Amino acid sequence: MKIKTKTVAESALNLKNITLNSRQLCDIELILNGAFNPLDSFLNKSDYDSVLDTMRLENGELWPIPINLDLTKEQIDLIENDEKIALRDKEGFLISILTLDDIWEPDKQKEASKVYGTEDIEHPGVLQLFNTNNYYVSGKLKKINLPTHHDFTDLRHTPQEVKENIKKMNYDSTIAFQTRNPIHRAHQELMTRAMKELEANILIHPTVGMTKPGDIDHYTRVNCYKKILPHFPSDSTLLSLIPLAMRMAGPREALWHALIRKNYGCTHLIVGRDHAGPGNRRNGDPFYGPYDAQELLLRHQDEINIKMVPFKLFVYVKEKSDFYEFDKIPDGLTSQNISGTELRSKLSNGEEIPKWFTYPEVSNELRKAYPSKNKQGVTLFFTGLSGSGKSTIANALMSKLLERQQRKVTLLDGDIVRTHLSSELGFSKEHRDLNITRIGFVASEITKNGGIAICAPIAPYEKPRQDNKKLIEQHGNYIEIHVSTPLEVCEKRDVKGLYEKARSGIIKGFTGIDDPYEAPNNPDLNIDTTHITVEEATLRIINYLENAQLI
Ligand code: PPS
Repeated sequence: MKIKTKTVAESALNLKNITLNSRQLCDIELILNGAFNPLDSFLNKSDYDSVLDTMRLENGELWPIPINLDLTKEQIDLIENDEKIALRDKEGFLISILTLDDIWEPDKQKEASKVYGTEDIEHPGVLQLFNTNNYYVSGKLKKINLPTHHDFTDLRHTPQEVKENIKKMNYDSTIAFQTRNPIHRAHQELMTRAMKELEANILIHPTVGMTKPGDIDHYTRVNCYKKILPHFPSDSTLLSLIPLAMRMAGPREALWHALIRKNYGCTHLIVGRDHAGPGNRRNGDPFYGPYDAQELLLRHQDEINIKMVPFKLFVYVKEKSDFYEFDKIPDGLTSQNISGTELRSKLSNGEEIPKWFTYPEVSNELRKAYPSKNKQGVTLFFTGLSGSGKSTIANALMSKLLERQQRKVTLLDGDIVRTHLSSELGFSKEHRDLNITRIGFVASEITKNGGIAICAPIAPYEKPRQDNKKLIEQHGNYIEIHVSTPLEVCEKRDVKGLYEKARSGIIKGFTGIDDPYEAPNNPDLNIDTTHITVEEATLRIINYLENAQLI
């Protein structure tokens, strides 16, 4: 058996390769492992058209979400119909061989309005769709290997394995719970009530493929799920991870989730308020009605042969120390709830998370991933002319920070960087930009890992400074400090004698003399060292960091 696989893999070496992106890898895994049954490949053109118009494949089977393999014009130009193509993961492992028999250019506007009910790119699914490649291809898929995962391998199962595990528990009904969020007490309550009512066991089936941008990462979530699992009855609860790439398509997505869970052997699916919806538009209007998903699933549940367990929003009623659906709260009593945004802000401010909302073990996991501001990574980016005082203040600041807090501090001073990271670079605009981009990358890694990066190059151009800010803010905090000491003062100091050399033409392209310096448009702090000491300047920065609760 193994020998045969090797032969196929070897013969695939002569085929053209397509490297699948994260979404395509999620999709192909669920096609190949049977979770997307009846699909056995990416949709062909006629099924695609039929799915958009009728939510059904051409043969009439219900399938609400188009699953497409999208390629670029350049990729299309290199391949021909009937050609076999090797589909590989990012490391080059062979996943499948596609025998191509359909290529077309989709009407994405139509796809957006049919699947998502809107062409508005504020909808993350629509934005994602408009960013996919412009051609779709299909054909017969030959399975070689399922994509490999190295994380939480004990919690990843094929539909067949889940079915077997469900069977061992010996229940007539199995409820599926789909989620892209941590599970808190209200969700637990909702699940245990449904289990009791239906005398069912439960499959907690969180999505660990792609979810809505900005969601809590799946590593943190799975560690939270592991902590709440002991609070469920062990003989009737299964936890399994599904590498589903969500589309946030609301009603159509709810139907899709039901079809998928049917393939995992479930008889029921919990569908809450705004199931798989992307939330509201920026102006506050929702993309879908709160119960649109429930209504659509209700119309099709008999055909799919999976029953919906509908739930309204669950809230905590303090006086009763219990959870209620929000429209069933006893008269005169008050309800409490914490939204995802409120939770984030509580974590970031180091506030306590109430026990009625989530178990302390779960909040501890969340705290590890979302530390309070004074434990988050931060980049302090100095910019200013040579001799402005950047390095001196940066060094003093490093000592002060090491003295009073626990985070590791890395100094990326202009000279250090030019010795160790950018030794081959000169002072042309191109080289200076590259130097600043490299500093930004290193600082972003330090920030991502919870450290403090102090950068002190001249950084004379606004664009690379802004690009760094954007990159670093994805991982933590970015503070820009303009050391705005005027040129005359810097030149008068001329600590290294470089200004004199620049004036006499020995050094060419010297910042401030015959090379530009673009002052920052909107720095967080402005420090002119003409009349203040290093200690005073450092104290100003320390005060700023204290006020921003960063130390
Ligand atoms: S940049 O523009 O941000 O990439 O510059 P940076 O890496 O900070 O390097 C600046 C230091 O290099 C010395 N030096 C020059 N500076 C500006 N222009 C020219 N042409 C130049 N040639 C050498 C100078 O000592 C700078 O150090 P600081 O500490 O800023 O005085």
